Amino acid sequence: RSAEPEVIGHGDAVGDMGYGKIIVLGEHSVVYGRHAIAAPIPLNVRAEVRPQPEQIDLLIPRWGVEMRFSEPEGKISSLHESITLIAERLGVADRGMRIDVFPRVPRANGLGASAALAVAVIRAMARCFDIKMSEREISNLAFDVEKIAHGTPSGIDNTLATFGRPILFRKDNPTARPEIRDLATARPIPVVIGLSGVATLTAQTVGNVRAAWQKSPSRYEAIFDQIDGLALAGVDALARGDIAELGDLMNIDHGLLNALQVSSWEIEELVEIARTHGALGAKLTGGGGGGAMIAVAEADKIQDVASAMRVAGYNSFITEIRS
Ligand code: MEV
Repeated sequence: RSAEPEVIGHGDAVGDMGYGKIIVLGEHSVVYGRHAIAAPIPLNVRAEVRPQPEQIDLLIPRWGVEMRFSEPEGKISSLHESITLIAERLGVADRGMRIDVFPRVPRANGLGASAALAVAVIRAMARCFDIKMSEREISNLAFDVEKIAHGTPSGIDNTLATFGRPILFRKDNPTARPEIRDLATARPIPVVIGLSGVATLTAQTVGNVRAAWQKSPSRYEAIFDQIDGLALAGVDALARGDIAELGDLMNIDHGLLNALQVSSWEIEELVEIARTHGALGAKLTGGGGGGAMIAVAEADKIQDVASAMRVAGYNSFITEIRS
């Protein structure tokens, strides 16, 4: 693999899209009603839906998916269930259509690929059958789709996948309306995304944290409260463009995520590489247990951080958080 990291620019958003995302601060505790900061990444999922005489066909060449919905499947996959739910809710489950999906978000990395896919397909299907939907309706339907594979999602992934801007997010309980605040950044914050190469199963790490919390609620509530404070402090750090402060908050958050035991060997190695190559902060992002991590650094260091990950055999991307 080349040691030259790929720089991905914002702004190539065309067609019916859902955004991938990073959680900057606050994953896991956000499931328990605490604040989290999320930002879009320029990796997205695009979808096209075209009418055809009969049958629903789903094609995702990059993931090797070719599905005809009428064919009996040994086990109905969550992808099958998701697309069926979308078609039913839009009232077009009996119509013929071909759905093409072009994902640029790597799958099962905690970067929001499933929510981005849901949003892209909802948008494309609604366009194909001339159904008007508000952004909130799109996000709400994507939330219901997320429940199929993820069990108890907080709602942050579908929100980010729909709106595609940096936000502070909080949701009191599963049925409450989320509080969503747009975030400003004084300057673009350079970020490296490091991929562990190990698939993350968000439902599993979320389930493990839930089991631990059920055993000793007050112990875990205290950790969630601390993470909440970090996310709120992150709002100011972003507003000031203070990368050193944001980095400190991320480092502490990673320590607390370790307390929740949602990291992995590879993520720890990536965090270590980032910190020893000039990153001001590094942490896992998303569900953990594999998946991805993020690191922030000043612009003149970001390339070194990303390259060091590649030299160690990991895939890395450079992007930025910006409002
Ligand atoms: C997943 O991107 C973030 C988690 O907090 C789960 C969720 O919020 O649904 C781990």
